[in-house]
Amino acid sequence: MRTALVNIGQLVSASEETPPRIHVIENATLIVENGEIIAAGDGNHTVAEPDVTVDVDGAVVLPGFIDAHTHMVFAGNRAHELEDRAKGKSFQQITAAGGGIMSTVSQTRAADERALLEESLHHLSWCVRSGTTTIEVKSGYGLDLETELKMLLTIHRVAQTLGGSTGHPNTQRVFATFLGLHAVGPEFDGDHTAYIHHMIGEVLPLVHNTDLCSYVDAFIEPGYFSAEDAHRLAAEAKVYGLGVRLHVDQFSDSGGASLAAEVGAATADHLEHTSAEGIAALAKGTTIPVLLPGSVLGLGLTQYADARAMLDAGLPVVLATDFNPGSSPTPSIPFVMALANRMMHMTPDECLAAVTVNAARSLGLSDRGRLAPGQIADFSVWPIKDWREAVCWFDGPLPTSVWMSGKKIAG
Ligand code: NIG
Ligand code: FE
Repeated sequence: MRTALVNIGQLVSASEETPPRIHVIENATLIVENGEIIAAGDGNHTVAEPDVTVDVDGAVVLPGFIDAHTHMVFAGNRAHELEDRAKGKSFQQITAAGGGIMSTVSQTRAADERALLEESLHHLSWCVRSGTTTIEVKSGYGLDLETELKMLLTIHRVAQTLGGSTGHPNTQRVFATFLGLHAVGPEFDGDHTAYIHHMIGEVLPLVHNTDLCSYVDAFIEPGYFSAEDAHRLAAEAKVYGLGVRLHVDQFSDSGGASLAAEVGAATADHLEHTSAEGIAALAKGTTIPVLLPGSVLGLGLTQYADARAMLDAGLPVVLATDFNPGSSPTPSIPFVMALANRMMHMTPDECLAAVTVNAARSLGLSDRGRLAPGQIADFSVWPIKDWREAVCWFDGPLPTSVWMSGKKIAG
């Protein structure tokens, strides 16, 4: 079936170059067939008559957003921590009192498979309604074999449900990451060495056998996991053919960016405290920076990652939500772009590239992120006049519709 979207006020996309350039076509038409874009431009196409024509009445059409760092599979919430947050307690203080990550670990362990899937699909609907069409999702709220597997299975089921609704089940839109090294499991009573041995030596091989993830991840931070742990995890990941993404330099500069480059990680995520040396190490290698301003705001902190220095070093900066119930309780890529513009000095063009082509690249994808012939037809239609409004408003307009593989999924 061939569908034409006509009367598009602005059709916005990025080029294939590095760094990508954003281009805007006014009064455009977008034609899709069999889930792919076959034409995107000024309307003077020589393709045969469409089966369906959709007049979008001057709306803006943007590529589907690719959210390359989330923790959106979890049970419950942390609303009960808001009193303490109001009193100024920090992430570390709340965690030390058994809250934070551990609170979500208890709630996720207690949820049965069905309940966890239901809650996760609910979270996914929040992501999709703000324009996200491809998403990375981490485990890490289990910290034991049973719950880590339950989380990965849930991510798989979320992927199947989404694939089914698009009519293109083979197009992977959900990428799973095993984050067993998120915190030391409570049963281990702080015995870091025994926990590492269990997660890397016993759980990871089983996770690999289930074929339920593409990446591994670890929270590298004093009090959590070390550079040595990351080396060990990365070496095992290599044996299993899994990619590596790492949480680094979030609360302090522990040389995490250089570490990520050294172990050949696909991404180094957070980077709020990364030094100039760390940025130079990333620029020399292939590791892509994934910046998460929602978590800076969500934790009441003030130091954002130095996106400007990274962009000036020629790095393909990615922005992601870090959607989770604690540090970054937002599913919204537009909100993250607005923050990155105000707090990290990123231009609207840089923000859009960071959540489309660059984010696709961080997941090893070149078949999406742009509105061009041959790309998967993932896009959103916005009730705005100037596309930069998608970077402008805080929790403002939402897309009127979101399309995956040329099919309207939401709106
Ligand atoms: O990326 N930094 C560690 N962990 C996560 C989520 C923390 C949480 O659940 O509060 C993050 O911010
Ligand atoms: Fe995270």
